[in-house]
Amino acid sequence: MKIKSFLGGYDKNFCYLIWCKNTRFAAVVDPSVKIDAIEDFIDKNNLILNKILITHTHNDHIFYLNDWIELYPKISLYGYDLKLNLKVKISNLSHNDIVSIGQELITTLYTPGHYDDSICFWNQKSDAILTGDTIFVGRTGRTVSSRSNIDDLYHSVYQIILKLPKHTMIYPGHHYGYKKNITIEENIKNSNFFNCNSKLEFFDVMKKFEENRK
Ligand SMILES: [Fe+2]
Repeated sequence: MKIKSFLGGYDKNFCYLIWCKNTRFAAVVDPSVKIDAIEDFIDKNNLILNKILITHTHNDHIFYLNDWIELYPKISLYGYDLKLNLKVKISNLSHNDIVSIGQELITTLYTPGHYDDSICFWNQKSDAILTGDTIFVGRTGRTVSSRSNIDDLYHSVYQIILKLPKHTMIYPGHHYGYKKNITIEENIKNSNFFNCNSKLEFFDVMKKFEENRK
């Protein structure tokens, strides 16, 4: 699976274009960045865009959704329990569902915590996971919104994402770290968010992080 990131949006957001190089079928993951440059790239590379995947419905991650729908009225949306009133086909995904992008298969991982409709998209074949705001380079997403849950986040991070093969490359929803992408292994090695020995230790790391933001 091929992946290209586009940086911009509300707060160093990443929008990703992913595609199958054999069939040219493509999907946008999180329409969080102005669509012009992405649309240019699609045209220049003869890609066939027919899906939009949504990691979670925080406004910054779906800000440009209507622009895509206007340009591609037959596009389909994929996400977790999407309650969006739109005139396009919406497919709601569960944990361990499969979405195909041409010949590429994406596994959905339900990872609530930062938000209750957060999911990650994992392409096992190319060892890549698009994590939205569940995991960034260096830290997890925050749990300060009304539909956040720190217990859920701990479970999603430690029981789901960190259990994937260690060389899996993380493609986060924002550029908050010292580089754009990082393997699970390097994130565990370099960040105390990812090497906690207990849930209490994780809660403490999260608490200290929030205190230091003030
Ligand atoms: Fe978010």
